[in-house]
Amino acid sequence: MDAAALPPLLALAVAVLLLVRLWPRATTRRNHCPYPNPVLGNVVPLLRNFHRFLDWATDMLAAAPANTIEVRGALGLCSGVANADPAVVDHLLRGNFPNYVKGARFAAPFADLLGSGLFLADGRLWSLQRKLASYSFASRSLRRFSARVLRAHLRRRLLPFLADAADSSGQQPVDLQDVLRRFTFDNICDVAFGVDSSTLLLQDAAGDARRHDADAFFRAFDDAVQVSFARMFHPTTVVWKAMRLAGVGSERRLRDAIRVIDDYVMAMIAESEERGRGDEQHQNLLSRFAAAVEEEEQGSELGAMFRSPHAKRRFLRDVVVSFVLAGKDSTSTALTWFFWLLAANPRCERRVYEEASRHSRGHGHGDDDDDDHDVDGYDELKGMHYLHAAITEAMRLYPPVPINTRVAAAGDVLPDGTAVRAGWFSDYCAYAMGRMPRLWGDDCREFRPERWLDGRGECVAVDAARYPVFHAGPRACLGREMAYVQMKAVVAAVVTRFAVEPVQPASMEAPPPYEMTATLRMKAGLPVRIRRRRPCPTPTETAHQPTLTVTAPIIGTPSNQAPKSRV
Ligand code: HEM
Repeated sequence: MDAAALPPLLALAVAVLLLVRLWPRATTRRNHCPYPNPVLGNVVPLLRNFHRFLDWATDMLAAAPANTIEVRGALGLCSGVANADPAVVDHLLRGNFPNYVKGARFAAPFADLLGSGLFLADGRLWSLQRKLASYSFASRSLRRFSARVLRAHLRRRLLPFLADAADSSGQQPVDLQDVLRRFTFDNICDVAFGVDSSTLLLQDAAGDARRHDADAFFRAFDDAVQVSFARMFHPTTVVWKAMRLAGVGSERRLRDAIRVIDDYVMAMIAESEERGRGDEQHQNLLSRFAAAVEEEEQGSELGAMFRSPHAKRRFLRDVVVSFVLAGKDSTSTALTWFFWLLAANPRCERRVYEEASRHSRGHGHGDDDDDDHDVDGYDELKGMHYLHAAITEAMRLYPPVPINTRVAAAGDVLPDGTAVRAGWFSDYCAYAMGRMPRLWGDDCREFRPERWLDGRGECVAVDAARYPVFHAGPRACLGREMAYVQMKAVVAAVVTRFAVEPVQPASMEAPPPYEMTATLRMKAGLPVRIRRRRPCPTPTETAHQPTLTVTAPIIGTPSNQAPKSRV
């Protein structure tokens, strides 16, 4: 062949390839697609708006005729749809649930971290785990156990920590986001493994080594989630897979982080096995799943999937890591935005304070050491309807999981007429949905807990498809109730004792910037000053204070470094 004919032939081949890739997109004319560049897709505006990704997505979804848009990657790679419409959410998560799977788009980037755990699994592996987990979450013993864990962590860690911050000379600011993240991390580790690890406070010298390991685990977990999440934004998996093979850059960081996670979790599993089947067993999540996979001889389907002792331990590792991921940043993120919103809305803060003081009188959340007192989820918390409404309202504006993704197993047509092709991703954006005047009225950008209260002042739930903060349908969040108990207990305990004052005065007109991670974190944390509401400490706080002295300002503590404290 004439060498001169080669370049035009190559150009023709590339053009045909592009046409083949892009052709299906061109045929779905009914779909609303902003910025439809046939070659670059939406990549250029995406890069331009990445720093305000959620608000950009909200603007586009609000402007779309049916609140659904088609999204195109460069060169036709990774196309899909995103929506902010309850009817479509209902269709994705309930009506046509079997067709919308986690799929490779989520599974491939997170597989190294989450393995076969509940979060990534689809099909039978998921349904078996879901059944067991649902049973565990509904059980009275787990609820009692998690209530006890929560009370202990509040009383021994969070409250003394904040009391110390309030009493420190010059009232050094603390990064409330970091403190809450550590608190919820310790809490979920305890519920998941039954291990009392503390990244928030050092209690005694004997706990030093354990604290060091827990802290390394905390940092490794952060790294692993961050790198796995960033993998999702690669237009193709080829680049990160090549980096993983070569062990370079962020992939090397991920490999190191996963090694730390594996060592820590496997040690916890070995410890749990050593403790055997005593009374403590079957309380935490690990022991419940361990019992289920050990039932192979009695015909347990889950046990049969993981036959060798090594495979069983790996599976338990995946289960535990999935639960830690679920509980780690979700509630802390919600609480961080909540405290900021209260500071920006003093009227609401007053109402929360008054209600919590009224209900806590005589009980003192976190002070009561009696395990049998109100073990089943804090009766007094249940009566705090305004607080419940305020937390729900905070998550409407700042949902901890702001955007969620599924992959269409087969082609489908959404209720609004949008065509979805097999293999396309199909996202719903809870952040955008919380800001739709169509769904919440013209005051949708205001923080108004009253919108959730009925005439008797009781909090009224709405359909999860309209408020998909905890997802909906068969894969809805299993920890919803646990999360509300945790958030309400923390807020009630904190606001009745302390005033939380952001260093930068809070205003609804200038919210703190967020960062694009798996959860909606504040980019620079939330530096606050803690002030005691009462001049005299409670007896419990007094009893605990001598064991703790914060020696350095915590503000600016990078998330990979524990707050400094000494015994
Ligand atoms: C404010 C706090 C929380 C929020 C907003 C939240 C939100 C969510 C969302 C959006 C999902 C769906 C994820 C997906 O499939 O893509 C989910 C699933 C899940 N959540 Fe939560 N969550 C919270 C707290 C918790 C806690 C404390 C736990 C307890 C460990 C928990 C356990 C789970 C589990 C096990 C699933 C997986 C369900 C499944 O795939 O079948 N969550 N959550």
